[in-house]
Amino acid sequence: MAEVTLEWKNKRLALLASGATAYEWIDPSSKLLEQPPQLMMMTPGQACGSSNLLAVGDGLDVLAAITSHTSFLEGGIRLVYIDPPFNTNADVRCYGDSLNRSMWLSMLRDRLTLLKPHLTSDASVWVHLDDSEVHHARLVMDEVFGDGAFVASVIWQKRTTRESRSAFSNNHDTILVYAPNGAKKWKLSRNLIKKDYAELKNRDNDPRGPWTDAPFTAPGFRAAQQYEIKTPSGEVLTPPRGRSWYATEITYRRLLSEGKIWFPKGGAGSPRIKIFSSQLRGLVPFTIWGSSETGTNDDAKRHLLSLFPEFSVFDTPKPEELLERIIHISTNPGDLVVDLFGGSGTTASVAQKMGRRWLLVERSERTVSQFTLPRLQAVVNGLDPFGITEQLGWVGGGKFEVTYVPPRLGKSLSQKQLHKIISMIEHPKTKNFLATAV
Ligand SMILES: C[S@@+](CC[C@H](N)C(=O)[O-])C[C@H]1O[C@@H](n2cnc3c(N)ncnc32)[C@H](O)[C@@H]1O
Repeated sequence: MAEVTLEWKNKRLALLASGATAYEWIDPSSKLLEQPPQLMMMTPGQACGSSNLLAVGDGLDVLAAITSHTSFLEGGIRLVYIDPPFNTNADVRCYGDSLNRSMWLSMLRDRLTLLKPHLTSDASVWVHLDDSEVHHARLVMDEVFGDGAFVASVIWQKRTTRESRSAFSNNHDTILVYAPNGAKKWKLSRNLIKKDYAELKNRDNDPRGPWTDAPFTAPGFRAAQQYEIKTPSGEVLTPPRGRSWYATEITYRRLLSEGKIWFPKGGAGSPRIKIFSSQLRGLVPFTIWGSSETGTNDDAKRHLLSLFPEFSVFDTPKPEELLERIIHISTNPGDLVVDLFGGSGTTASVAQKMGRRWLLVERSERTVSQFTLPRLQAVVNGLDPFGITEQLGWVGGGKFEVTYVPPRLGKSLSQKQLHKIISMIEHPKTKNFLATAV
């Protein structure tokens, strides 16, 4: 239990999704909460029969339905990435973005609380927000996971242009990173960032391939590492004052005979040790992620517009480069990635291209039929040449199931809406298939 907690109106009540966009407060002892929501498969498979699942519905309902009816989460979730509506008070195209603050906080808390028991011991939870709620969200996450679970708050440069009408041009989002087992343990299993191999060159046509170099010196005075080195141009060098050579003379002679020492300035410079790509350790990630490496919202919009030129795209899709970095750091191939606010499906698209399993939930039927479903179909069919496709050499492959979880309160999607989604599903048996409840 965190030492400092946040209070909000109706904190002790439950909050359920109602209809397509609303929420309602519910008494926590209500019988409604005991009934698991229905799970209606739209592809003729079982939700637990495939590695990947696109679920249409509210995230909390979907989690409750999946855990009640299937074993989908049994292997544990390695990464949760969520990019919920930021609560900006703006009517963002395609989804409303103005809940009252109490509802927004309960909405976040309840989803994190339900996810928590399904996390693997080396899992991490990444919550993508802007300044509207990030300060509150951090206290909510402290309360759910404990403040010892905080790892970092990553600043992502979401735009490069200046918003000149505002007091400040807001060019960043914040991604809160928590590891429920604590940063120290998580550090042992997370991946380092790949070094930029562009800096490797092959200046001497070394048959072992391109290399970079580092000074052949070490800090401090070590008697065994003080000796004379003769450069190819004939100069005799000793270590700079207060330093030693990087290795003893015997090791130096071996490295020299193996062609692993480089003398710059045409053979007159101080010795440097050659480092080949296989010897390069990755980099510990910075907490500031620039757009040149992780893309911008506009890059993500361009990706969607290239795939779906006929639709106007909502303002805040995330670029594949950003998700590639998050998924690379926090998972390995085969791990399960969960996103409860799927939008256009960036998380699932990247997870698929990187060989991870995924669960993606999206509440808006319109977003699913315009973007999420056709995008993920393009990905598995090798018809999405954008985003990280080229970088990863992705050519398509794999499959996913689609399910609908009707809300426990309010109106479900109409038969017409359901059939619209079903008719888009490419599956040999889809033609004669109707959504059935389990
Ligand atoms: C900021 S967008 C996510 C964008 C996404 N990361 C992408 O790259 O396209 C938030 C999404 O969450 C969806 N959403 C809002 N409330 C939801 C809920 N309770 N359950 C599931 N999805 C929800 C919205 O319809 C919207 O598409």
